[in-house]
Amino acid sequence: MEFLLSKKVKNVEIPTLRKFFNMLADYPEVINLTVGLPDFLTPAHIKEAGKEAIDHNKTTYTNQAGILELRKAASDYGRIKYGLDYDPQSEIIITNGASEALDISFRTILEEGSEVLLPAPVYPGYEALVTLSGAVPVFMDTSPYDFKVTPELLEKHITDKTRCLVLTNPSNPTGVLLNEEELKDIAAYIEDKDIFVITDEIYSELTYGNHFVSFATLPHMRDRTIAINGLSKSHAMTGWRVGFTYAPSYLTEQMEKVHYFNTVCASTISQYGALKALTDGIDDAIEMKNEYERRKEYTYMRLRDMGLETVHPEGAFYMFPSIKHLKMNSYDFAVKMIDEGKVGVVPGNAFSKFGEGYVRISYAYSMEHLEKGLDRMEAFITKIDNR
Ligand SMILES: Cc1ncc(COP(=O)(O)O)c(C=O)c1O
Repeated sequence: MEFLLSKKVKNVEIPTLRKFFNMLADYPEVINLTVGLPDFLTPAHIKEAGKEAIDHNKTTYTNQAGILELRKAASDYGRIKYGLDYDPQSEIIITNGASEALDISFRTILEEGSEVLLPAPVYPGYEALVTLSGAVPVFMDTSPYDFKVTPELLEKHITDKTRCLVLTNPSNPTGVLLNEEELKDIAAYIEDKDIFVITDEIYSELTYGNHFVSFATLPHMRDRTIAINGLSKSHAMTGWRVGFTYAPSYLTEQMEKVHYFNTVCASTISQYGALKALTDGIDDAIEMKNEYERRKEYTYMRLRDMGLETVHPEGAFYMFPSIKHLKMNSYDFAVKMIDEGKVGVVPGNAFSKFGEGYVRISYAYSMEHLEKGLDRMEAFITKIDNR
């Protein structure tokens, strides 16, 4: 019966990123620098709120968009942190992580054959969702532009089928942050074009130096933008699965239907944990961010000393050094480094073909772990450089 399966689903592959991560489970001696999740624990007051929800039997379905208190908290959070202005009753949906928020956004706006502009190298989650929506991912190579999106790049790829542009700000895998001027240039370019923007801002709380600006706050952009955020990274809550969407009511109304038929509502227990995070825990990310920043500087310095050219990241917890001078493709490099160097990084081609020639290193690890991993990496690179 296999021939009867959906071709769309069969054509989607489990990303290299996940395969690589699973493969590392068989190599316990390897120092793993691949994981894209915080090494911190969920703050204690949030865990308590989750436990209390269970003890008080807050364990039934909620309103499909989420408990109103939480939507109000998400609305306040967006306003206080980023100047976003969204009505909790009609413009916010609480989702099962940013992942589900992305899925309902794509499925609401895309049709068979629509094109979606993806700035590459790119987080692998989008491609599959776009394809499953019947649409076509269009990868734009940002590497000649310091991994940024520019009007020139958009002009090269936009067609009359383009329905949507995705921005990941700050970016996974490069850590690059688009600043206000750069976002304004993008906004000016698309202003007279009928395309939506999905801005994935899951790392917005983890930015270093430059002030984070949400694309949805730019003049004339609110009406066409879906801003996605969540608590996985900011509050070390990956397993709680809480995300949220900020979008004008005409979009939210439609997205809410997709969300409802997909999942009814986000986990009720998690919603109460999230309520704590977005009220008393509104600044929980600051301490973690300060620690990530320390690790970032250390990792950057180590990579530079190894002779690996790396864009200095301004957000998230990744670095994306070039290994082009080593004359090896990034997959072979990563496999060899596991076998011989006993350290794991993600090959750049896991983030589309435009990531070839790079590797992704996560610095969401303790300093001790990073030091050990980078020492091994340095020894491995010195060895292959001398061959
Ligand atoms: C850019 C980006 N968007 C979305 C997600 C998914 O986040 P969530 O755990 O909220 O589903 C990730 C997770 O790594 C990510 O890196």
